[in-house]
Amino acid sequence: MNILVLGSGGREHALAWKISQSPKLNQLFIAPGNPGTQQVGVNVNLSPNNFDEVAAFCLEKNIDVVVVGPEDPLVNGIHDFLVQQKGLENMYVIGPKKEAAQLEGSKDYAKEFMMRHEIPTAQYQTFTAETLAEGQAFLETLAAPYVLKADGLAAGKGVLILNDLEEAKTELKNMLVDSKFGEASSRVVIEEFLDGIEFSVFALTDGKDYIILPEAKDYKRIGEGDKGLNTGGMGAVSPVPFMDAKLWEKTENEIVKPTINGLAKDHIPFIGFVFFGLINVNGQPKVIEYNVRMGDPETEVVIPRLKSDLIEIFAQMKAGNLSKVKVEFTSEAATTVMVVSGGYPESYEKGHAISGLENVKDSIVFHAGTATKDDAIVTSGGRVMAFTSMGENKQKALEKSYQSIEKICFEGIYYRKDIGFDL
Ligand code: AMP
Ligand code: GLY
Repeated sequence: MNILVLGSGGREHALAWKISQSPKLNQLFIAPGNPGTQQVGVNVNLSPNNFDEVAAFCLEKNIDVVVVGPEDPLVNGIHDFLVQQKGLENMYVIGPKKEAAQLEGSKDYAKEFMMRHEIPTAQYQTFTAETLAEGQAFLETLAAPYVLKADGLAAGKGVLILNDLEEAKTELKNMLVDSKFGEASSRVVIEEFLDGIEFSVFALTDGKDYIILPEAKDYKRIGEGDKGLNTGGMGAVSPVPFMDAKLWEKTENEIVKPTINGLAKDHIPFIGFVFFGLINVNGQPKVIEYNVRMGDPETEVVIPRLKSDLIEIFAQMKAGNLSKVKVEFTSEAATTVMVVSGGYPESYEKGHAISGLENVKDSIVFHAGTATKDDAIVTSGGRVMAFTSMGENKQKALEKSYQSIEKICFEGIYYRKDIGFDL
């Protein structure tokens, strides 16, 4: 099979790394990829948001399967576009069409979906600039903290959690009237605050059947003890120790199944990964958000635990046999620690040489924000690379990730030393 992975982060490197191990692979391309993906496939200088160019490339290279890493091309309809092109009708795209991608692209759409299918989530109401006064009155009926969410995609920055009622009212106005998050905050979802511990579960579905991948927990804040600004993710662990049989059963029966069945009932096709962002409120899992793709850095711990051949799974899915697929995962723990550029998630420098990578033996290094310059690997983003390790338990795996990081260096290097601290 010829496979094209779209994207350029650690998630895409992890997916490409796994795909490259399959005996069923013919050619693997990653667009645009990074220096890490270049080690396992062929990077192609294409933007995932340039649908015409992606389609032309798929035709030229006889691509069988496209795996879409990030959300924006999905929300913009890349799946719909590609399979409408002459000659690409039978290409298999992992990642939903535009309609289903709204589960991530619109918080209000996701909330309505959950209400319709009785999927546990926080109580909410949605407001626009016209209904600002009603929104502010609604805030008065709630207890702090107040949760305000821009409806649309806002690169992970569109959620505000505020303790002060007056501040919440002002921010609601900033979002709705003064376009704080641009078009994304022309509608705002105000939500009940849920107190609990977050975790994530992933399913791969053809819209009818599904397989569940291992759960994971990511660490979003820049600072230790989960303090400071939100980032794209500073590390992740899988499995999550508090995820016992009971919580799994509730998660599958009350959330995963009703979601897949709900999509089928609503006649919304979905091929791809569903990322359930969940919170455990006293043993009751509730949905915080849906994403329509794998998580980053969660992929860097979930995919290394997959023992089965990922291409074989895609092939069986395409043939309508997903229900018969047996997937195997290792019981070993996986951890990943993200190494970032000093200053991130605010401004940071790029172009610093990364040394010592050849000494890393006990971890898999997934590249995120790296580039090549005169044969050297240099930093080119906020999140630079993820150090994934396996071990008989989380502690052993984490020790390896941290020992590996000690072996490398670049100017301004920063990472959290407490990944998994709360488990
Ligand atoms: P989201 O983009 O919807 O995942 O929200 C970003 C983050 O805000 C989540 O990962 C949670 O930490 C937090 N959050 C979102 N909604 C709620 C809620 N209803 N109650 C408590 N925390 C929330
Ligand atoms: N790690 C969270 C995300 O990928 O959205």
